[in-house]
Amino acid sequence: MQTWRWKFSLGAAAALAASIALMAAVKADDLASVVAERQAGMKAMGGKLKEIKAFAESGAGQAEASADAAVLVATAKSIPGWFPVGSGLDSFSGKTAAKPEIWNDQAKFKAIAATFQADTVALQQAIAAGDKAGASSAFEAMGREGCGACHGAFRAKT
Ligand code: HEC
Repeated sequence: MQTWRWKFSLGAAAALAASIALMAAVKADDLASVVAERQAGMKAMGGKLKEIKAFAESGAGQAEASADAAVLVATAKSIPGWFPVGSGLDSFSGKTAAKPEIWNDQAKFKAIAATFQADTVALQQAIAAGDKAGASSAFEAMGREGCGACHGAFRAKT
């Protein structure tokens, strides 16, 4: 009877350990897909800048620039959710350029992300108003305070 019990609890413990290991594996998969998703999202934003820049410089292509700015606005809102704990380069070395400072200095990271959000909205509004000069300065501010500031502090050079 005692032996049976002991064997039973040993089996239960092994099953529990296996399911914990499985959970950890699923979690690592989730984090890897978050990394892939944010890199694709960042790349997509990069692809939206050309037509916006063209409008800011020449006033041409307002409709295209508007559509692109809408993507930036929507994407900016997603950015804070793209960086769960454990998805930095200390866990995914060689796969991500997300520096540990993102989690060590959350206040700064969130502040830049919020500034970026506001900048994308200002840019969208200037384009919607057909304001070439306003779009030009909003574009410059977004690049400096948003993309540039965040990359400078939180994205490792690869
Ligand atoms: C709040 C921070 C933040 C903002 C704002 C931000 N980025 Fe990023 N970006 C990052 C981080 C961190 C990485 C590294 C992500 C990784 O490798 O997992 C990155 C990576 C990238 C990449 C490389 C993606 C790849 O394929 O690996 C591109 C391109 C990029 N960003 C473009 C932009 C552009 C353009 C803007 C502005 C319109 C912008 N980002 C705004 C933090 C930011």
